[in-house]
Amino acid sequence: MTESHDESTRRLALRIVTMPRDTNQYGTIFGGVILSYIDQAGFVECRRHGRHRWVTASLDRVDFRAPVHLGDIVSFYARPTRMGTKSITVRIEVEAERYTTQQRVRVTEATITLVSVDPAGNPIPYTSEPTIDDE
Ligand SMILES: CC(C)(COP(=O)(O)OP(=O)(O)OC[C@H]1O[C@@H](n2cnc3c(N)ncnc32)[C@H](O)[C@@H]1OP(=O)(O)O)[C@@H](O)C(=O)NCCC(=O)NCCS
Repeated sequence: MTESHDESTRRLALRIVTMPRDTNQYGTIFGGVILSYIDQAGFVECRRHGRHRWVTASLDRVDFRAPVHLGDIVSFYARPTRMGTKSITVRIEVEAERYTTQQRVRVTEATITLVSVDPAGNPIPYTSEPTIDDE
């Protein structure tokens, strides 16, 4: 598959296939489903930077540029745009590979900030010793 955007500055965080349960009353994919995956994609990126609990502090802006259809293969790419002390802001780019044509379309973009927290939920530097251990 040919990637249509710069792969050097972003990483694939998630790739999913849309299912009938994900559709709205119009037959396209419900925006809330995409938001949920954006949240997960942000987490996947942040976990690369610290083995902690990460909570979502803000979802700054979401642009739904094109609909996602049933059966599309949807990729969520992540790129940190701000490396703070206890937080990381991540740009998420979402692309759909159309079920019928395999055409790749940029469907959504969002910016999300996650904060690393200790077991009590207090923010901690994400470069600190891991707070999630092997069982
Ligand atoms: C996110 C949370 C831990 C922040 O706690 P806080 O005590 O206000 O955090 P602090 O002021 O000490 O800031 C800690 C870091 O978080 C960042 N931060 C805090 N609130 C933020 C916000 N709304 N947006 C972006 N970043 C934020 C700060 O910039 C700081 O980052 P830095 O150290 O890299 O500069 C707290 O508000 C919380 O638990 N929220 C609920 C999270 C949650 O449950 N998310 C799931 C949604 S259901």
